[in-house]
Amino acid sequence: MSRKLFIAGNWKMNTNLAGGVELAKALVKEVGSLKEIDVAVCPPFVYLGEVSRALAGSGIAMGAQDMFYENNGAFTGEISGEMLKDVGCKYVILGHSERRHVIGESDELINRKMVKALADGLLPIFCIGELLEERNSGRTMDVVTRQVKAGFEGISAADAAKITIAYEPVWAIGTGVTATSAQAQEVHAAVRALVAEIYDKSLADVIRIQYGGSVKASNAAELLNQPDIDGALVGGASLKAADFVGIIKGGL
Ligand code: PGA
Repeated sequence: MSRKLFIAGNWKMNTNLAGGVELAKALVKEVGSLKEIDVAVCPPFVYLGEVSRALAGSGIAMGAQDMFYENNGAFTGEISGEMLKDVGCKYVILGHSERRHVIGESDELINRKMVKALADGLLPIFCIGELLEERNSGRTMDVVTRQVKAGFEGISAADAAKITIAYEPVWAIGTGVTATSAQAQEVHAAVRALVAEIYDKSLADVIRIQYGGSVKASNAAELLNQPDIDGALVGGASLKAADFVGIIKGGL
């Protein structure tokens, strides 16, 4: 399969201006000219401009952690896709579990953002994943199926090909507990089959599905080696250049 690995760092609500720029510069030095793997960082909104300047000329792309589904207007506190493009974003994370479960975003709201991100020319990193009680009661596939169907609602096959799905079991995020490579592979294969069912096999063959949830240098290689795991969305371990580089090298 010819899917290129894609490893993205989700900085969440971390770093400060100097620290974010320093992290970006360290990554440029270490992996800025890597061709074999797509790499991106997703800093907080307020640091996007400076981080973009630090990444300029390198192969590392930048993403935002969220966006709103309108261009501009009276939406206090929101950021549009056009604004993100303006400061150099290529990607946007949508439907992250912290936005679903801490902020309370619905499947419908996330879908509106997906449609708008694609219209704006941004590439969504669309997060899905089950809570621990959902896994323990055997509902993992019901939950991710609902999330995928709702998230991709009204999106053409041509646009769907631009989306990266990130499977992030909620119980594995920030907990130090990683899904085993077998647990992750099982869900990834099922999600790929679901994409084939909603669209067709040719799309399912090319769409990238990242794993996320306590990925670190010590477990990255085994996860990335699974046939249906096409990269990683990394939180905590993306905040230190050496750790993030270690994960990226696990994919080489
Ligand atoms: P983590 O976060 O790597 O800190 O578990 C992953 C994520 O939430 O994207």
